[in-house]
This record gives sequence, C-alpha cells and structure tokens, in this order.
Amino acid sequence: MDKQAELDKVRQAIVDNNVCPGLAAQATNLVMGDGNVDADIVFIGEAPGKNEDEQGLPFVGAAGKFLNEMLAEAGLVRSDVYITNIVKYRPPNNRDPLPDEKKAFWPYLLKQLQIIQPKVVITLGRHSMEYFLPDMKISQIHGQPKRIQFGDSKLVIVPLYHPAAALYNGSMRQTLIDDFLTVPEIIKKIS
Ligand code: URA
Repeated sequence: MDKQAELDKVRQAIVDNNVCPGLAAQATNLVMGDGNVDADIVFIGEAPGKNEDEQGLPFVGAAGKFLNEMLAEAGLVRSDVYITNIVKYRPPNNRDPLPDEKKAFWPYLLKQLQIIQPKVVITLGRHSMEYFLPDMKISQIHGQPKRIQFGDSKLVIVPLYHPAAALYNGSMRQTLIDDFLTVPEIIKKIS
C-alpha cells in the first residue's frame, strides 16, 4: 500500500474511533496534514486554528504564512516537507489543546511518523515538543537536535518555537529562523 493510502487509513481510524467527540462536533474539518509523504522533514504544530479548520489544511493562516517564509529562507517550499499537528481538530476559540486531547491524538501522530519515516521531526512550540522530549523547556533547548528512540530506530527531534508565538516578537522570530536554517546541516550529518 502506498504511503498516502496508509495515511488515509489513519484518518479513517480517527473518525471510526470517535477521537475527541467534543472537538469533532464543533469542527468543520479533521485536519490531518499537508505536503510530501516522502519528506525528510515533518513539522508538528499544536492544533488547527480558524483558517485551518475551514480549509482542512494545517498552517494556512498567519502562522502558516510565516512558516512558508521560513521555508523559503532555507530554499524550500511546502511540498518539500510534511506538516501536521498533534491535535487534529480545532479547539474552540483557539484555546490551548488539553492534556487529554493531546494524549488521545498521540497514537495517530506516531502512526503518521511510522508511515512517512522522516529523518527529522521539527516540533513547533511546547505542545508537540512535550511528548517527544518530556520535562524539557523550549527556552533552553530550542534549535538543539535531540536523538530519541522511536520504535526500533532512532529519530532526531529539533524543537523550535511556535511561529504564532514568534510572529510579532522580533528577536524570537529571528531565533526561530536561525534555528530552522541549521536543519539542512543536521540532515546532512544524519545521512
Ligand atoms: N497553529 C498550529 O499549531 N497549527 C496550525 O495548523 C495552525 C496554527
């Protein structure tokens, strides 16, 4: 089975298993992911916002525009990478995802990664970082690649600030871009 077909099965499993019915009832779309299923880099954000819920695609609002700009600085476009979120339905009024919501979606995120098999996972913000790198502070480890055990193999996680947090904060914005620009070098070292 090809990767997209396998990812479609993960989407169907979320629906069939009635994951987070409260969120599902208020959402327009289940936002699974976007981009290249053969990508070396997978970005993981927090949860869809209003634009993402309406369009069914991750990072298509203001934070997404910034993410696209950051990719462009590294000579990449969205179709070079894969982008998803830990929580796949929009939380009401864009509140932070709850611990139970993140826990409920976590196995499906792992399945996405098992299918795509990226070289590097970039977590955007603390919500997606905390499951991969528990008890760590993003302010202390942003931009530092961390090798973790992932099933039978190893996976490199690069924790970055969330683009929405950095959007209107000049120094955080530059830090996020600078951190991201080190990723091609990290991939080269792994390869
Ligand atoms: N912020 C996120 O974390 N994810 C999105 O898809 C959009 C904004």
